[in-house]
Amino acid sequence: MVQPTRLIRSIPKYVFWELDQRKRAHRASGRPLLDVGIGSPDQAVPAPVREALREAASRPELSGYPHFRGHPEFLRAMADYMVDRFGVHTEPERDYMAVAGSKEGLAEIILSICEPGDVVLVPEIYYPVYVRATQLASAEAVMVPFTADGLLDLEAIDPAHIARARVLIVNYPCNPTTAIVDLAAMTRLVEFARANSILLVSDLAYAELAFDGFVPPSALEVPGAMECTVELHSASKSFNMAGSRVGVVVGNRDAINALDAYRSNVGYGAATLPQLGAAVAFTNYRALVKPIVAEYAARRDALVNAFHANGWAVQSPRATMYLWLTVPEGYDDWGWVDHCLQAHNIVITPGIAFGEAGRGRFRISLVQPAPVLANVAKALAQR
Ligand SMILES: Cc1ncc(COP(=O)(O)O)c(C=O)c1O
Repeated sequence: MVQPTRLIRSIPKYVFWELDQRKRAHRASGRPLLDVGIGSPDQAVPAPVREALREAASRPELSGYPHFRGHPEFLRAMADYMVDRFGVHTEPERDYMAVAGSKEGLAEIILSICEPGDVVLVPEIYYPVYVRATQLASAEAVMVPFTADGLLDLEAIDPAHIARARVLIVNYPCNPTTAIVDLAAMTRLVEFARANSILLVSDLAYAELAFDGFVPPSALEVPGAMECTVELHSASKSFNMAGSRVGVVVGNRDAINALDAYRSNVGYGAATLPQLGAAVAFTNYRALVKPIVAEYAARRDALVNAFHANGWAVQSPRATMYLWLTVPEGYDDWGWVDHCLQAHNIVITPGIAFGEAGRGRFRISLVQPAPVLANVAKALAQR
């Protein structure tokens, strides 16, 4: 009998797997299902990107294996984006690695530089790959608590853990908490990493999904950040390209070289066509994200207003595509998930999908039209 390795078997089942089982059983019973659990974009890939993908597919010179580091057109577009959006100057050939989505990039960074005995510092409520990749590297994930305003409480980290830490992962705007930071807070994170010789890994998957005039900063804006930081950018959320699997890691050259050394052993580089689509997306980001963000803002407002109208006080997020809420009294995490499913045919994500510290919370994704989300709020507010 073929079995996964002991290491893989030792990693607990993904909460999203468990959620999937419940969805499957619900569908099998013939009942409708409204999924606002998963953060998977439902809007179309922008037309100029679709055109670029079509055009790239007809170029015979793109039929061969991709460039290991990334297609020059994509890397140039990313370097131009980093200048235009953040004022960050980089070299496309040396500071970047194209990846098949930031999730894989995050895992590969950890796998390329962490080994047994090393610590990865992870926000206590986290996107699951931060911990799972750490487990796959047989390193130790140590949780960093949040302060009341959703920042990382760096003072609370045990110095013994800091001494063994190779990586600190930060994610602002944050999935799932929706917390944001300004450049001053980002600066403190970079300085902590530099002072302790730790690689700061800034997960900026939601760089463009921000509302009400808020503009998320890049960690690389902090002077000297390239010495100790890599950042992940993704086309998935900003341009509805989650299915295209394209992102990039940019920053510290030693880390990029380590990533290159890892990736060149297991693959041939990220797929060329999605990179060329993403090149057009990031080149035209100002125009292309505008309608996408406007739609998310309208959905957020519809959802928040409907919660308020139905007597449930919720905070309106200034970024991401989520609402992060407290499980009503009388329910535990799975009890509330099951209730939403059974009573309302609605799938939400339990907070424990993002670690123990997420217990007692749940997440709604803005992946349905505004009127549908208003009905979700109305239904959940009835309990
Ligand atoms: C915080 C965060 N990082 C990374 C990702 C992965 O994005 P992708 O691999 O599609 O670039 C997600 C996806 O939901 C996310 O929420």
